[in-house]
Amino acid sequence: MHKFSTILVTGGAGFIGSNLIRYLLGEKSGFTGRLVNLDALTYAGNPESLADIEQQHGGSRYFFVKADICDRPAVEKAFADYAIDAVCHLAAESHVDRSILGPEAFIRTNVMGTFTLLDVARNAWKGRDDVLFHHVSTDEVFGSLGDAGYFTEATPYDPRSPYSASKASSDHLVQAYHHTYGLPITLTNCSNNYGPYQFPEKLIPVMILNMLEGKPLPVYGDGRNIRDWLYVEDHNAAVWAVMQKGAIGHTYNIGGENEWENIKLLDRLIEIVAEEAGKSVGQLRALISYVKDRPGHDRRYAIDCSKIKAELGWKQSVDYDGGLRRTVRWYLDNPRWIERVRSGEYRSWMDTNYSKR
Ligand SMILES: NC(=O)c1ccc[n+]([C@@H]2O[C@H](COP(=O)([O-])OP(=O)(O)OC[C@H]3O[C@@H](n4cnc5c(N)ncnc54)[C@H](O)[C@@H]3O)[C@@H](O)[C@H]2O)c1
Repeated sequence: MHKFSTILVTGGAGFIGSNLIRYLLGEKSGFTGRLVNLDALTYAGNPESLADIEQQHGGSRYFFVKADICDRPAVEKAFADYAIDAVCHLAAESHVDRSILGPEAFIRTNVMGTFTLLDVARNAWKGRDDVLFHHVSTDEVFGSLGDAGYFTEATPYDPRSPYSASKASSDHLVQAYHHTYGLPITLTNCSNNYGPYQFPEKLIPVMILNMLEGKPLPVYGDGRNIRDWLYVEDHNAAVWAVMQKGAIGHTYNIGGENEWENIKLLDRLIEIVAEEAGKSVGQLRALISYVKDRPGHDRRYAIDCSKIKAELGWKQSVDYDGGLRRTVRWYLDNPRWIERVRSGEYRSWMDTNYSKR
């Protein structure tokens, strides 16, 4: 069992990162050390997501460093100031649609930023074996599936968007630093996360908020693309299990075993929002608007996560319906967070970029 005293979480002000910090500082994780959240606060980073954590643990177990992962001196300073002995690397440009319109930021942050972190870690740790660099990646690196089959840890990489290509590059760099320099690493590739604090440019929050505001519900193409959905807390419990018990140099797939066609997911979400927000299912359904498909839209992703289940004893704990309902309730209960997120540099992707089919 690996034990860490100070973990550097990169991208901790984003969706998964803020949930991870809340999870690690909560009772379920058993972690008793300190967390340093290093985040550049791009349009996707929102310190508001951690206001309660800052209040409760700021200056004792939680520290925030505003820095870009490409800024080598700033990353070196964080390592030295806080005596970092583990990294959980989440900082990334993460939105596929944005990567199609402007790939450069994705290459910079996801490739160069990951390289910078790895190189700083290698120099700071100088061959120590009581340290860990954990890299959080995506199932999108494996490409697209047909109707059958699953991605396993042995599936060859076949990234097809600038986003997935940049994440694939970062995965290769992480493995290369292990093989070449002996840096202790673990790596996880997960499916689509959903839950609280997700930015309202990703499918589930876009749909929930548009339903609440009576705006169109944009569905790409024929709506029959399939994704596997994983509740963010289950994902973070899996990441933590890998960090503590995973075999060094190994990759673990994390999935929800929960595949849905986009249009079916939307149907269920409509029913839940109707119940929770007192709206009419018919009126919400009338908002569905089919839009021009995303270029190169991968048809199906599905994860085989039997390795992490068998080797580390992890399993999903939140069923899909329960997770969706919790997510809807969270967006209903947190209008202030939504307002704050939308008041910054962030602009709704849909308002400016979707065109009706
Ligand atoms: N959300 C998903 O469903 C999903 C699925 C698979 C993998 N992932 C991976 O998980 C990680 C987190 O995803 P997310 O959905 O929370 O992303 P997010 O976009 O919500 O958050 C990304 C965070 O990284 C920060 N960041 C961006 N560029 C930075 C830079 N150059 N330096 C420092 N900080 C920077 C942002 O400010 C933000 O806080 C990413 O690596 C992503 O590829 C996400």
